Amino acid sequence: MKISVIGCGYLGAVHASAMAELGHDVIGIDVDANKIALLAEGRPPFFEPGLPEVLTSARDSGRLRFSTDIADAAGAQVHFVAVGTPQKPGSYSADLTYVDAAIEGLLPYLSEGDLVVGKSTVPVGTAARLSDLIVASGRGATLAWNPEFLREGFAVQDTISPDRLVYGVAPGAPGEHAVALLNEIYVAALAADTPLVITDFATAELVKVAANAFLATKISFINAMAEIAEVTGADVTQLADAIGYDARIGRRFLGAGVGFGGGCLPKDIRAFTARAEELGRGESVAFLKEMDAINLRRRQRVVDLTVASLPIPVHQAKVAVLGLSFKPHSDDVRDSPALDVAVQLRGLGAEVVAIDPQAIENARARHPQLTYSESLEETLRGADAVVHVTEWPEYRELDPVWAGALVRNRLVIDGRNSYDSTVWRAAGWEYKGMGKP
Ligand code: UDX
Repeated sequence: MKISVIGCGYLGAVHASAMAELGHDVIGIDVDANKIALLAEGRPPFFEPGLPEVLTSARDSGRLRFSTDIADAAGAQVHFVAVGTPQKPGSYSADLTYVDAAIEGLLPYLSEGDLVVGKSTVPVGTAARLSDLIVASGRGATLAWNPEFLREGFAVQDTISPDRLVYGVAPGAPGEHAVALLNEIYVAALAADTPLVITDFATAELVKVAANAFLATKISFINAMAEIAEVTGADVTQLADAIGYDARIGRRFLGAGVGFGGGCLPKDIRAFTARAEELGRGESVAFLKEMDAINLRRRQRVVDLTVASLPIPVHQAKVAVLGLSFKPHSDDVRDSPALDVAVQLRGLGAEVVAIDPQAIENARARHPQLTYSESLEETLRGADAVVHVTEWPEYRELDPVWAGALVRNRLVIDGRNSYDSTVWRAAGWEYKGMGKP
């Protein structure tokens, strides 16, 4: 199948590479010439495990090309729209400028029978509006909405072997045509019995935001329990284990800590509340504002706990911050709790030295005022507190005896509840976890 992918950011670059890997003939298009040049050389402009290999093999096979000219989408039968929908500055709403521009740019190059497939996360109602635009253009193309559920760090695997496929399609013959083309694209996943939900536009759009809202709620729920644990002497990890044994609840996404961040969960729950308010149903998802607030309080908790536990005033202290990305196996610092904690501690006058295996460059671009180090030894040396905020394997496995010999004061704030407190305490550390006695 000849495919174009409009937008080669995180989602688009992965999608284009994965589609080529599956044997399709793909052209990736983006307005950013730097990004396109890097991708064309087989170098992703961001860190994602496994992507360089897939990108290079797809490019070498001749099945994957890149361009900055949307006219090069002509000739493809299916056009994926994978542009960003960031939060609008000063508002909770999603900014649809890039989606609208992609569709407008694409229209003149569409042919009879072409399918435009929305992948971006959009406010419910967007697909119907875009479908009307495409139909009105009279070019004989149709629209489908096929949300993406990939996780950063597992993006290639999640795209090639998704845990479900959702097609939002128009009623009648155009919808049947869309289903047939999408089935051809995802033939490998369907052969592997991947569950498929064929539905209308609104449901497909809502599936995506509902999934992210649920995940965010699950994390904030356990973090709310952590807040209660903190004033009662209970242990939130044991609590999560115990409720997680109930198959109806499940243990995954009950990791209490510094909370969620990244380019999806925070912005998606905010955009959802904004859209629900526009629809006159703000009260239905008003609880998401509470989830957002709980989430942001956990960052504050790490900062407050550090300040309160230091043996000296914070402005005289050196604080080692382990991790900057919003989660391990990613260089993404968008809405990162770890970076937020580092910035807040610096704002209080601490000498902050932060380390991350992949995210330093992105963090520095946003916060040049922080001190970054690529050496764990240098980061820890002379520190008055160690704040563990992104659970990269190298920080999870930190040896408290080795680290204890480097720091000035053995205080560890475990923002991810990764460490065995008994082991750390035995090595002479004052250990502070999240939602722990
Ligand atoms: C998320 C969704 O999982 C994915 O399906 C969707 O397509 C995009 O948004 P992602 O942003 O890559 O993916 O990260 P995810 O693994 O979901 O983690 C989100 C945040 O929650 C991270 O900051 C992570 O550290 C945090 N988290 C996760 C917790 O704090 N506790 C947990 O138990 C799980």
